[in-house]
Amino acid sequence: MFGPIGEIIETQRLRLEPLAVHHADEMAEVLDDPRLHDYIGGEPLTRDELRARYERLVAGPAPFHQEGWLNWVIFRRRDEQPVGYVQATVTPSPTALKASIAWVTGMPYQGFGFATEAAGAMVGWLRAHGVTEITASIHPENASSAAVARKLGLHPTPDVDDGETVWRVPSS
Ligand SMILES: CC(C)(COP(=O)(O)OP(=O)(O)OC[C@H]1O[C@@H](n2cnc3c(N)ncnc32)[C@H](O)[C@@H]1OP(=O)(O)O)[C@@H](O)C(=O)NCCC(=O)NCCS
Repeated sequence: MFGPIGEIIETQRLRLEPLAVHHADEMAEVLDDPRLHDYIGGEPLTRDELRARYERLVAGPAPFHQEGWLNWVIFRRRDEQPVGYVQATVTPSPTALKASIAWVTGMPYQGFGFATEAAGAMVGWLRAHGVTEITASIHPENASSAAVARKLGLHPTPDVDDGETVWRVPSS
């Protein structure tokens, strides 16, 4: 399994805190909008459901999965408002350490560059910890998520994962 656990990451406007179960109390409100699920499936969870989900995420995958689950809650530093989350699933392969990444920003906090700023910082952290291949799976109609991926330097590939386009950083 991927060794390092997440650390606090700070950017100009944001602080990324490794996910803890207590974050469910604040995040239930931030994520309480069905529009967030237009392209990612599912529906908003109640506080208790989110707490149960965070318990599973914090516990991590079973060791035989050989994966690491990294999740960060994004806080706006100026007022400590939680605005969303970023996540990475890290998988070792014989030749590389790979991460599949994703981002979500609550509706009132979208359009300020927060997903790009947070995910960019996460990618920097992943690279500093040996991850060499970064991918994201994005619904073909999810234009704002595609914009985030492009700003991070990812490009769409012909690969499709469960109906979503696989984006990756082209190898140089
Ligand atoms: C995708 C998401 C995380 C973006 O969050 P955000 O904090 O608004 O992202 P940013 O502000 O960093 O960047 C958004 C970009 O999308 C662009 N954008 C927004 N709506 C758009 C649209 N309809 N068409 C094209 N681009 C659009 C913005 O202009 C911005 O790009 P720019 O800075 O070049 O102008 C947010 O919309 C979200 O949480 N969606 C629901 C969950 C989801 O689908 N997550 C992605 C899973 S792969």
